[in-house]
Amino acid sequence: MNYKSDFPIFNRYKKQDKSLVYLDSAAMAQMPQQAIDAVRQHDEEAHANVHRGIYALSELATEKYEAARETVRAFINARSVNEIIFTRNTTEGINLVAYALGKSILVEGDHVLISRAEHHSNMLPWQMLAEEKGIVLDVVDADKDGLIDVKHSVFNMLHPRTKLAAFSHVSHVLGTINPVAEMGKLFRERNILFLVDAAQSIGHLATDVQDIGCDFLVFSGHKMGGPTGIGVLYGREELLADMPPFLRGGGMINEVSFEHTEFALLPAKFEAGTPNVSGAVGLAAAITYIQKIGFDEIRKIDEELTTELFSRLGGIKGMKIFGPSDAKDRGGVASFMLKGIHPHDLATILDRDNICIRAGHHCAQPLMRHLGVPATSRASFWVYNTKEDVERLTEGIEKASALLAIR
Ligand SMILES: Cc1ncc(COP(=O)(O)O)c(C=O)c1O
Repeated sequence: MNYKSDFPIFNRYKKQDKSLVYLDSAAMAQMPQQAIDAVRQHDEEAHANVHRGIYALSELATEKYEAARETVRAFINARSVNEIIFTRNTTEGINLVAYALGKSILVEGDHVLISRAEHHSNMLPWQMLAEEKGIVLDVVDADKDGLIDVKHSVFNMLHPRTKLAAFSHVSHVLGTINPVAEMGKLFRERNILFLVDAAQSIGHLATDVQDIGCDFLVFSGHKMGGPTGIGVLYGREELLADMPPFLRGGGMINEVSFEHTEFALLPAKFEAGTPNVSGAVGLAAAITYIQKIGFDEIRKIDEELTTELFSRLGGIKGMKIFGPSDAKDRGGVASFMLKGIHPHDLATILDRDNICIRAGHHCAQPLMRHLGVPATSRASFWVYNTKEDVERLTEGIEKASALLAIR
C-alpha cells in the first residue's frame, strides 16, 4: 500500500520536476490531508477561545478541544483525561516535569538517571536541576550495538537515591527501541519515577502508558502527522495533582487575590494561557489517521524500509551505520556516515535531487562525542516512504560519493 497520496506535500513540492523524497520524519513528519483539513475547518468554523465564553461558539471550540484530549487519552490508554496536558512540544513537557519536580519531590543529593543517547531536550532540563538544586545526573551507555541492557547497564547505574529515570522510547540517532516496559518494571519496584520521551515512538509504535508503567510520557504532534506547536504530557494523576504549576496566568486558577491563588484542578492547572486549540484538533485528526492505518502496518513499513536501506548501504564503500543492525530492534530512524564526506555536504548534494535527509549532531552532542564523530547523516521514515525512496537515496549517496571522489 502506498500512502503518499494522503499527503498533499508530495503533489505540491517538486524541484525541477523531481518528486520529493522526504526522509526527515524524525525531525517533522508530513501532515495527512485530514489533519490539515481538521485545522483549517476548526479555524473556519469554530475559532473562539476555550473554557471562557458564555456563548455557543466558545462552547463549540471547548467541546472540540476537550474531545481532542479524550482522543489522546484513548490513544495512549491513560486512565483519565486529567492525565493529559496539552503542551507545545516534547521539550516543553520535559521542562514542565523537571521544573515542577525540582520544586517538589527532588532535593539536593537525589539522582536522576538518563542515557547518553538522549536528545538535548531530555538532558538539559535535568542538567538545570543538577546546576540549580545539586541533583546528581547519572548516565547509562548503550552497548556496542546501540542497545541498552536493563538488567546490567541500567541496574548497575541505580543509586539508593535515584529518584527519577528519563529515557527515550526510540533513540532519534541510534534508532534503538528501548525496552521501556522492562525499565518501567525495574523502576516501579524501586519507587523510581519514570519519564518516557516518546517523541520518536509515538507515530511508530503502539503506546500504552499503563503497560509501560511510566509516570510521565511526552511527545510532539509534529512528529506524528499533527501540526506544529502542539504536544502532550501524560502524567499519573496523583503525581500531577501534587506538582506545582509550571506557567501561571489565565485559565489555570479557581480563585485569585493579591495574597493568594487557588489553582484549578487538572488538567487546567498545567495549561496557563490560551492553548493551541486548532493544534489539538489537528493532533486528534492525525491520531485518527494513524489508527486507520494501524501500528502493525506502520511497524511493517519501518522494518521493511530499514532492512532495504541497510542492505543497500552495506554495498557502499566507506559506509558506517550506527545503532542496532537488526531492523527489529529499531524504529524508523537510521544514522550513518560516509567516510570522507561531511554529512552536511551529503545532505546538500542529495537536496539537489529533492531528497531530504538530516545532517548534524541531532541535538545529541554528548553522543556524537562518544561515537567520535562531529555529525552523522540521518534518514528517517514514516508511512509515506517506499522502497523507491530508499533506492533514490542510495543512488544519490553513490552519486555524491563519486562526485566528491572519496576513497
Ligand atoms: C527523542 C527526542 N526527544 C525530544 C525531541 C524534541 O522534540 P521537540 O522539538 O518537538 O520538542 C526530539 C526532536 O527531535 C526527539 O527526537
